[in-house]
Amino acid sequence: MKRSEMKGRVLNSMYIVLPSYSVNEGIARGAVAAFCAQLNPTASELGDIKCALSEAVTNSIVHAYRDTIGDIYITVDLLENSVVKMKIKDKGCGIDDVKCARTPLYTTDRAGERSGMGFTVMESFTDAMRVTSKSGKGTTVVLYKKIVSRNI
Ligand SMILES: Nc1ncnc2c1ncn2[C@@H]1O[C@H](COP(=O)(O)OP(=O)(O)OP(=O)(O)O)[C@@H](O)[C@H]1O
Ligand SMILES: [Mg+2]
Repeated sequence: MKRSEMKGRVLNSMYIVLPSYSVNEGIARGAVAAFCAQLNPTASELGDIKCALSEAVTNSIVHAYRDTIGDIYITVDLLENSVVKMKIKDKGCGIDDVKCARTPLYTTDRAGERSGMGFTVMESFTDAMRVTSKSGKGTTVVLYKKIVSRNI
């Protein structure tokens, strides 16, 4: 995706804040899907958006706020040229080494429940991904997805 497309004018936007209860992963997914429906995405495009969003929100729930409950801040902007920009932010534990965390199969989970593929899924199901984090302060993931316009 071109850099200029990632900085397009905001045509519509949505902001939701949800506490990190597991049930809110599905609620976030549904809300974002409803917002994106205005672009008339294909089932595949919408599936990609929901999947990527879900991985980011799940990370905030299970990693950022592992032993506590905190707020997850989700902003979805609809940009020019049918670009969806999703920002998922938490004020949790943060990531020491983002480059390492983005590596496929890397996980800090010791219970064997996680596969370390979340960031890889986010990256492959979207057109661009930005991750910024500060240890002890929190993490922000920004995902861009271009919806190919089509006639109804
Ligand atoms: N929001 C976050 N806050 C703190 N740490 C995070 C956050 N997101 C990811 N991480 C760290 O990055 C690692 C890699 O994340 P990723 O989503 O790729 O894998 P995973 O969550 O461990 O496994 P999976 O997503 O496949 O269930 C995590 O194990 C965790 O240590
Ligand atoms: Mg994950």
